[in-house]
Amino acid sequence: MTIQKIVILGTGGTIAGLTSNRSGNTDYTAAQLGVNQLVAAIPGLGHGGPFVVEQVAQIDSKDISFSVWTELAKRVQQHLLQEDVAGLVVTHGTDTLEETAYFLQAVLHPSKPVVLTCAMRPADAPEPDGPQNMRDAVLVARSPAARGVVVVCAGHVHSAIDVQKTHTSRLNAFGSGDAGVIGSIEENSLTKVREWPSSEPTGAQKAIENIAILNLIHIWPRVEIVMNYAGAGAGLVDALVTQGVQGLVVAGTGNGTVHQAMESALLVAQAKGVHVVRATRCPEGRVLPRADDVFSPSHGLSPVKARIDLMLQLMGISRQAQVRI
Ligand code: SIN
Repeated sequence: MTIQKIVILGTGGTIAGLTSNRSGNTDYTAAQLGVNQLVAAIPGLGHGGPFVVEQVAQIDSKDISFSVWTELAKRVQQHLLQEDVAGLVVTHGTDTLEETAYFLQAVLHPSKPVVLTCAMRPADAPEPDGPQNMRDAVLVARSPAARGVVVVCAGHVHSAIDVQKTHTSRLNAFGSGDAGVIGSIEENSLTKVREWPSSEPTGAQKAIENIAILNLIHIWPRVEIVMNYAGAGAGLVDALVTQGVQGLVVAGTGNGTVHQAMESALLVAQAKGVHVVRATRCPEGRVLPRADDVFSPSHGLSPVKARIDLMLQLMGISRQAQVRI
């Protein structure tokens, strides 16, 4: 029997970073090693093969762009269509990992596993975390139970919908809030904690249509995030409307509440055709519906994911990641 392949796509990040200071974990430059070099240097990784290894981008993920996302979605989709591919691993920086995970899940809704992984320490740190994360990610990509876009970091499997970077420096930098992790990996063994993301029967066809739309769109709709805070006013919203913003996600306080001055400006923006979505700046919990809601709710998405969701909606992309588990 032929063993199916695992495709490893590189996009850069700290996992591919190098340090000029061998004793430090934070003083480094991201995205220095090619993904082929990374794969070749990880002891024991080869047991998870055979692999197809491809460099899609080489960036610090704070600099991720819509063109990188489009290219990545195309490459992932192309490999997913191959019968001899069991699943994919994507190496990525931690800083915008949750956004890329949500984007890929929303556009592709894959039934095979697409496992994003990362590191908090550069590849040449005295004790790098990338190699174990890679081994864990390959294990998950090979697991018959796994499906959809997930993030593997520090022995945890997170869903694309719930995952958020919650810490600036510790190795276990991600959380899934109230939803919790999907599973954990210990000693090369995956334990499922809850259900994997559901997949729609028509997902593959919709993914093809979504990629066709992305191929046609060269300028994505402008959607910005504004935050509510003490003394928040109308100025920022008014300025964005003047600049032609098409959508605004408000990261409200608490249960999505907004200062009355900012709310008035958002209502004026909405009346002018700007799409307004109400999210919360709280890292956990979802905005609960209210009888007097004037703005669309974020359906439990964080502000950065609600922004992606609104951009995709404005492009006519059929998003499927709203199906929570
Ligand atoms: C990045 O996001 O590319 C740099 C930071 C990291 O990977 O931890």
